[in-house]
Amino acid sequence: MDFTQTQTYFNLARAFAGECQAGMRYQLIARAATAAGLTALADTLRTIAKNETNHARVFFELLIKHAGSRDDIRVDAGYPFHTGTIAESLAFAAEDEKSEHENIYPSFARTAREEGFEDVAFKFEEVAKVEENHEIVFRYLHESVKNGTLYSAEHPLIWICGECGYMHTAKEAWKVCPLCGAKQGEVDLHLPYKGV
Ligand SMILES: [Fe+2]
Ligand SMILES: [Fe+2]
Repeated sequence: MDFTQTQTYFNLARAFAGECQAGMRYQLIARAATAAGLTALADTLRTIAKNETNHARVFFELLIKHAGSRDDIRVDAGYPFHTGTIAESLAFAAEDEKSEHENIYPSFARTAREEGFEDVAFKFEEVAKVEENHEIVFRYLHESVKNGTLYSAEHPLIWICGECGYMHTAKEAWKVCPLCGAKQGEVDLHLPYKGV
């Protein structure tokens, strides 16, 4: 079978493009977070951006494995171009992750399996699981930034300074680290994960 005639060929190209763009969008939110002094948030966003870049690599390598080097692939697909405040951008990111793990990748995996590409189906499914956790993290970050609760909790938590490692258990993190003087935005975040 000519792989370039399958739907999976185009889906891999679409997934590659989508992951590249998601990675870039998260870099842009990270940039805004850095400018706002939210260093730990920026670090988290850069880590997720790196995840997306590696998803792109996985899809790129699968396409090359099955189709070899290609001069030109015409990708007919829509991609989000959302922007807004940091909180709004985090909400858009959560929605984008949701559509990836609920609709796009499950449907790409089904098609790949129908067309006989089990290796591709497996990767789409595994990436979907990661995107599900990304959605959870983005929803948490959106709520926390919107409500100003990134550094407070209902019950006491251990807060750790990302700069010097100073630790203190309280309902709220310090405004300025008593040990090294770093600002609150340097304090490590408490991120939720669903786990699989
Ligand atoms: Fe991804
Ligand atoms: Fe993601």
